[in-house]
Parts: sequence; C-alpha cells; structure tokens
Amino acid sequence: MNLRVIDTCAPDLGAILVTGATGPVGQRLVQALLAQGLSVSILTRSPRRVQALWPNAGIRVHCGDLTDPGSLGGLGDAIQTVFHLASHHPGPDEPDLYNAPDHWRVSAEGTGHLLRALADSPIERLVYVSSVRAAASPPPCVYGRAKHAAEQQVLAFGQRYGSKVSVLRLPMVYGLDGAGNLERLVRAVAARRFPPWPRLEQRRSAIHVEDAVAAMLLIACHPETSGQLYVATDGQTYSTRWIYEQILHSLGRPLPRWTVPLWALRLAAASGSLGERLLRRPLPLTLETLAKLTQDACYDGSALRRLGFAARYDLGSEIERLVQQLGFASALSPAPPPARSADSD
Ligand SMILES: NC(=O)c1ccc[n+]([C@@H]2O[C@H](COP(=O)([O-])OP(=O)(O)OC[C@H]3O[C@@H](n4cnc5c(N)ncnc54)[C@H](OP(=O)(O)O)[C@@H]3O)[C@@H](O)[C@H]2O)c1
Repeated sequence: MNLRVIDTCAPDLGAILVTGATGPVGQRLVQALLAQGLSVSILTRSPRRVQALWPNAGIRVHCGDLTDPGSLGGLGDAIQTVFHLASHHPGPDEPDLYNAPDHWRVSAEGTGHLLRALADSPIERLVYVSSVRAAASPPPCVYGRAKHAAEQQVLAFGQRYGSKVSVLRLPMVYGLDGAGNLERLVRAVAARRFPPWPRLEQRRSAIHVEDAVAAMLLIACHPETSGQLYVATDGQTYSTRWIYEQILHSLGRPLPRWTVPLWALRLAAASGSLGERLLRRPLPLTLETLAKLTQDACYDGSALRRLGFAARYDLGSEIERLVQQLGFASALSPAPPPARSADSD
C-alpha cells in the first residue's frame, strides 16, 4: 500500500473518535493512530479497560453505550474523523453467535443513535467497519442484517450532511493473538482435536488485522472514497483443507492418510446444533460452524487495490508465526508444504 498517502494526510484527520476501540481490531487501530501522534477519543462502556490498555496515552474517554442515546451527548464535539467499529460481541454462553438479538440493538439501532449524536457536529469523515456478512441479499443472519442496516444509515448520513462517509467490509480477520478463530484452529490441530479434513473445493477471503487497519486509514485519507463501499482482502483465497495442511506442515507433522467423510461431519454438526439448543451453551461443531468451514466466502478486494492498497501479510506466514508463538513448533524437519490451493481473489 502507498503508505506515503497515510503519512502525508494523517495529520489532516484532526481529532479522531473511535468506537469499538477496545475490541481486538479497534485496539490495533488505536495503536496505529497513537503511533502517528494523532488525537484520539474513545467511546466505551468500560473506561477502566481503556485506562488499562493505554495508560498515560492522553486519550479522551467518553463513557457511553450505543444502545442508550442519552449517554452519547457531546460525543462529536470537536471531532473531525470517526472510525465506527463497535459491534455486539456475544458472550461465551450465547449460542448462535450470528443471530444474537443484541446485534440489532448495537449495530442497527446503536448506529442510528450514534449518527443522531454526531448530527450536531460538523464531522468531516466517517469510516464504518462492517462485515462481508452484510453482503448477501438479504443477509442470512441477524449480524449481517444489522451490519447492512448500519451501512445504509451511515451512507445516508454522509449524503445528508456532506461528510465523507465510507464503508469497509472485512472478511475473516487473522493476526488477532488470543482472540481469533485461527488460533483456536491451530490449538485444535496441535491437540489432535481437529479431524483430518476432507479435500473440498472452497474459496475464502481473509485479511490480517494490520492490513485491515491500513485499509481503514487509507480510506479515511484518500480523497475519492466518499459514499463508497470497500472490501479488504489479502488478495488470496483459502480453503479449510489448505489451512489444515498448512498447520500440519508448520507443526512438522505428516498428512494423515485418511480424511473424515463430509456426511460424518454433517451428522456430528447436526447433533451439535441440537445439543446447543438443549444445553443452551456453545458447542465446537454445529451446522453453522460446519457451513463456515465448508462454504465459499470469497470477496472482491479490487476496488481497494485500485486506491493503492496492497496487503503485507498472508495466512501461510501467519500460521507459521502462530505455531512458533504458541510453542508448538517441532524440532523435526517439517512435512512438505501443502500443494498450492490459495489463489488470487
Ligand atoms: N474480528 C473479526 O474477525 C471481524 C470480521 C469481520 C468484521 N469485523 C468487524 O470489525 C469490527 C471490529 O471487530 P472486533 O472483533 O475488534 O470487535 P468486536 O469484538 O466485534 O466489538 C467489541 C467492541 O464493540 C464495542 N461495543 C459493543 N457493544 C457496544 C455498545 N453497546 N456501546 C458501545 N460500544 C460497544 C465494545 O466496546 P466496550 O466494551 O469498550 O464498550 C468493543 O470495543 C466490528 O464492527 C466487526 O463487526 C470483525
């Protein structure tokens, strides 16, 4: 990516408000903004967490909740740029992550409250961080529908108030140490809790968190992003089988000679979904998880690349790094790398 664009324009972003700053992606964004010496305000329900994350960083904290419009007064005062990342994060006891009713309260209704609070302030630009799950028509889950509703609202806000508003949809994000699905997958394969995955044709997009942050900054800085919707990808597509083989390769383990048949996975997943409903707690394999692991989720990131964006990370190197970091790397010579099944999006 043309980092000079960001270096040159970052000071023009003025005072910046970040929502969702304490989430795993928001934390990296705030670190990047602070590293540029920018003035950062944060909307949070947990000021103590902000204090713990960035002691003495000079961050202005607005204690408020997107679901409570009364707590958002004065939020946009003296703010020029908004990065809106806040999103409901389902708790560990909340089954069906993508259909938790609070997604609607936080993303759809909460974004409406946020925009009403900002309407009195002449903000210059807003970047809304959404999800590729908002792309289907109609989105199949509450999360996707709520994100889509929020996208529509922010774009309408830009048109009405003349602010430069853009939407960035993210696919699976990796590089989220301790907070990502990839780390769970590496741990499961290392502990032999992940079955020898079938060789299914599948194409999924993904992005490293640092590249996602770079994309947000580029969109905020670039003069031609008003009213536009972008997807950030690392330019590759991946299958679960490829990821599985890459993890084994990094662990220095050979590929198993057999694979579990898809029908057996479907049966186990159906039992998992039923169990989740009966026990009212999340289980590792459900029909929803299986769909995520087997279906295509490939998105076109070319609009962002035309702005000069180029990802610096890829999933293969991230898996190597994670395996090392988690202490699973073997002293034995590694298995041969998996045949290439990642290609450009
Ligand atoms: N992580 C991924 O793999 C991924 C993939 C695609 C898209 N995205 C999108 O990227 C964005 C960032 O993701 P993330 O994983 O870092 O964050 P997240 O865990 O989805 O969101 C948690 C953040 O949202 C804030 N939040 C939640 N409810 C709120 C409320 N009622 N009022 C105010 N703030 C509220 C929390 O703030 P406090 O607790 O401090 O109040 C926290 O900072 C999200 O919009 C997400 O949908 C993420």
